[in-house]
Amino acid sequence: MQVAVIGANGGIGRRLLPRLHDVGHDPIGVVRDEEQFDSIREREGTPRLGDLEGTFASALKDVDAVVFTAGSGGSTGWDKTLMVDLWGARRVVDSCEEQDIDRYVMISARGAADPDTGYEPLRPYLVAKRCADDYLQQSDLAATILRPTTLTDEEGSGRISSAFAPAGGGPDVSRADVAAAVVACLDDDATIGHTIELYGGDTPVEEAVHPPS
Ligand SMILES: NC(=O)c1ccc[n+]([C@@H]2O[C@H](COP(=O)([O-])OP(=O)(O)OC[C@H]3O[C@@H](n4cnc5c(N)ncnc54)[C@H](OP(=O)(O)O)[C@@H]3O)[C@@H](O)[C@H]2O)c1
Repeated sequence: MQVAVIGANGGIGRRLLPRLHDVGHDPIGVVRDEEQFDSIREREGTPRLGDLEGTFASALKDVDAVVFTAGSGGSTGWDKTLMVDLWGARRVVDSCEEQDIDRYVMISARGAADPDTGYEPLRPYLVAKRCADDYLQQSDLAATILRPTTLTDEEGSGRISSAFAPAGGGPDVSRADVAAAVVACLDDDATIGHTIELYGGDTPVEEAVHPPS
């Protein structure tokens, strides 16, 4: 599959591109700065330009699936939270529907299920993530929503734990293991329609994201 990764130069995105390539997908790295093109190519991705606050639709041309792993980050203001994490994410859903792109994996965040009980300084971010998730769920896309807890840059272990209903917390999870979970979801249609919290743990990633029967 041609898989467009929005946020390809980010912590999860950089780890995701080579993993997609290794299992036979064709990763498209969507970035907002041409200076990042070489870094995308080094990770086996085909670079395309797209800015969630500007234009990005052409970056999704002819792709089969989209992974949203962009984020405004903790050092910007709530204006960027609105324009990137909420509005940008919604615009990507619209663009997928317009271009008949069916498969979608969203990197959301633990706590988005119930922003009112989240860590207070992060509540506006959790609201933005929740609203973007709701919009995706109400679309016709074949979506899987992943809600990782706090991310680390540790090496991946290939093992995590998951929850198919809000679990209230758990160990931090590495960006590498979240990238592995994205690949596992793209290769497992049983994950479509599910919202899955991700934590550190001991279950092999493919098993952890497969819904319980
Ligand atoms: N940090 C955590 O503990 C945590 C926990 C749960 C969920 N999450 C979510 O997990 C996802 C990935 O996190 P991460 O830590 O890997 O992210 P990251 O390293 O901060 O990367 C985010 C990427 O988004 C890109 N981006 C920002 N604004 C954009 C725009 N207007 N158009 C296009 N791209 C844009 C950035 O581009 P540049 O490289 O150009 O800046 C960056 O490459 C995010 O959705 C985040 O909200 C994070």
